Amino acid sequence: MTTRRLTDRLGGLAFGGDYNPEQWDEEVWKQDDELMRRAGVNLATVGVFSWALLEPEEGRYDFAWLDAHLDRLHANGVSVDLATPTASPPPWFTLAHPDALPVGPDGTRLTHGSRDTYCLAAPAYRDAARRVASALAQRYGDHPALALWHVHNEYVTLCWCDHTAAAFRVWLQARHGSLDVLNEAWGTAFWSQRYTSWEQVLPPRATQWHQNPGQALDFRRFWSDETLAAYREQRDVIRTASDRPVTTNLMLPGYQNLDLWAFGREVDVVSIDHYPTGPGLDAAADTAFGADRARSFAGGAPWLLMEQGTSTVYAGDRVLGKEPGEILRHSLGHIARGSEGALFFQWRQSRAGAETWHSAMVPHAGPDSRTFREVTETGAAVARLGELAGSTVRAEVAVLHDSDAWWALDVDGLPSAELDYHAALRRAHRTLWDAGVTVDLAHPEQELGRYRLVVAPALFLLSDAGAANLRGYVEDGGTLLVQHAAGYVDDRLHARLGGYPAAALREALGIRVEEYRPLGRDERIVLSDSSHAAAWSESLRVEGAEALASYTHGLLAGSPALTRHRFGAGHGWYVSARLDDADQAGLVTRLLDAAGVQPELPGLPPAVEAVTRHAEDGRRWHVVMNHGAEPARLPEPLQDLLTDGPVSELPPGGCAVLRAR
Ligand code: GLA
Repeated sequence: MTTRRLTDRLGGLAFGGDYNPEQWDEEVWKQDDELMRRAGVNLATVGVFSWALLEPEEGRYDFAWLDAHLDRLHANGVSVDLATPTASPPPWFTLAHPDALPVGPDGTRLTHGSRDTYCLAAPAYRDAARRVASALAQRYGDHPALALWHVHNEYVTLCWCDHTAAAFRVWLQARHGSLDVLNEAWGTAFWSQRYTSWEQVLPPRATQWHQNPGQALDFRRFWSDETLAAYREQRDVIRTASDRPVTTNLMLPGYQNLDLWAFGREVDVVSIDHYPTGPGLDAAADTAFGADRARSFAGGAPWLLMEQGTSTVYAGDRVLGKEPGEILRHSLGHIARGSEGALFFQWRQSRAGAETWHSAMVPHAGPDSRTFREVTETGAAVARLGELAGSTVRAEVAVLHDSDAWWALDVDGLPSAELDYHAALRRAHRTLWDAGVTVDLAHPEQELGRYRLVVAPALFLLSDAGAANLRGYVEDGGTLLVQHAAGYVDDRLHARLGGYPAAALREALGIRVEEYRPLGRDERIVLSDSSHAAAWSESLRVEGAEALASYTHGLLAGSPALTRHRFGAGHGWYVSARLDDADQAGLVTRLLDAAGVQPELPGLPPAVEAVTRHAEDGRRWHVVMNHGAEPARLPEPLQDLLTDGPVSELPPGGCAVLRAR
């Protein structure tokens, strides 16, 4: 387990954050050393945005300043997560290589002055990135402070330039083999789009009306693969000079430019950045979603929270200070779900520059502040949790998540703007989180047999392999809930003919959808079991399934809306409209009962979250967080690692990490 190499080196879970000392002077560095000791910092991410200092002109490196910081941190007992600086090329680079600047879909070329301003497909950028990563690896590959490599920072930029076009064509040739196959896949027989030479094929740039959906989807896949190739190049040059694990910090849940399942397979340690944008219970649910997602991309292995804030980044139109206690609760929320620590962006709040108003562990006010006191308390708490290192989380329920399915709902010309992949995924997770159940995300084509219940939101695109997999899951005894507009298209975005969803899934669900009837933005309907729904409705026939509720009005009156089908040893459920929150919660409770799934710690009040971490040797810890305003009694008094005493009740906002018996 690669995270073991990290936690063994740190002597426990990780605590710290991005450290950008180049913004400060020696006086402040001395204070940093002292404050890091006070806060219990044992890991600092260094060098994320240091390219201009490290390589002040092409090919000339200046390592002296970084040597001094690494040695200082090491002497102070702080290990280093060393970043390659490639997310922010310096001005000299963009002037020397203007063709490596990114171009938007409308042809506008960006210029330097911010960060993330590069085209990943530009040879000059890729060469420069590999060279600086290699120089760092040669210099610091076995530095005693080095615990982890941090390639790049949040791969986020997209580009539609001519370099991208050339690379896209190479990717398309590998995927489709011939232009005939590409023409068939993209349905170019329509609208006179047939390609007769590869040079005619472009990235999906700004067009007059709908873009070709197959082209749009393939571009998303291509860009993800191109980004992964850029990551691998840096990782591989690092590996030639260093045996420390390598990661890249994966993006927030709302960004979906990358197939993070694929990234999860290529990094040594999955790490994520996570910034809830709302307050209170929503932030706690958001934290759980980000953490469950990270663990799932890691294949269930421990992972690392690389960045969070001591305040929100934005809540609507402003930043919002975290409520007292939330810095600890959010940190524990990640640790509960498998993170091997809690890191922040950034250590010291900037005095100048683009992120002056972004929160930090040491705020502008300095250490005599609520924020720093809470950071210090959190560091002390994390330091008490070393025995959790290497333990994992077990989920009995999975929510299906697929990048292709997400991208399929981003193309033009869909039947309703209400088909929102991310919102549907979040909602499915939230309903289960509210029910106190721990959830993995799972890919539709992966082995699902270990889950008692699988929920499939927004699977508009479903491959043949995915449909067959879900059929097999139900047949072998699983309980599957499929939500509306599922399996309408295959992995080329070709519509399923003869009725939706894909044939294998129709068998498992015992239904056939004949017609889709999206609802108006403000339209709401009532089903025969009194539940309310919006957004979508379908005319469907049961083909073996039992109708549990039907439509009551209009053309669909009497047509089934909610169905259940006994198939093999399992059950396939289908809901053909978007149920309102309370009714969705009711349906999920019914399914949890049917599948025999219990909350992690039954009997807790609603706003109390509990997750269990399991060690291989049978030891277990319940991480419990009271997000509510009332004291919460625990089922039995247990020893709390945070206070080193027995705990039977949590005050409002209180947390405990309980050694299970
Ligand atoms: C990302 C970046 C950081 C910082 C934060 C701000 O996570 O990696 O450099 O900009 O966002 O929230």
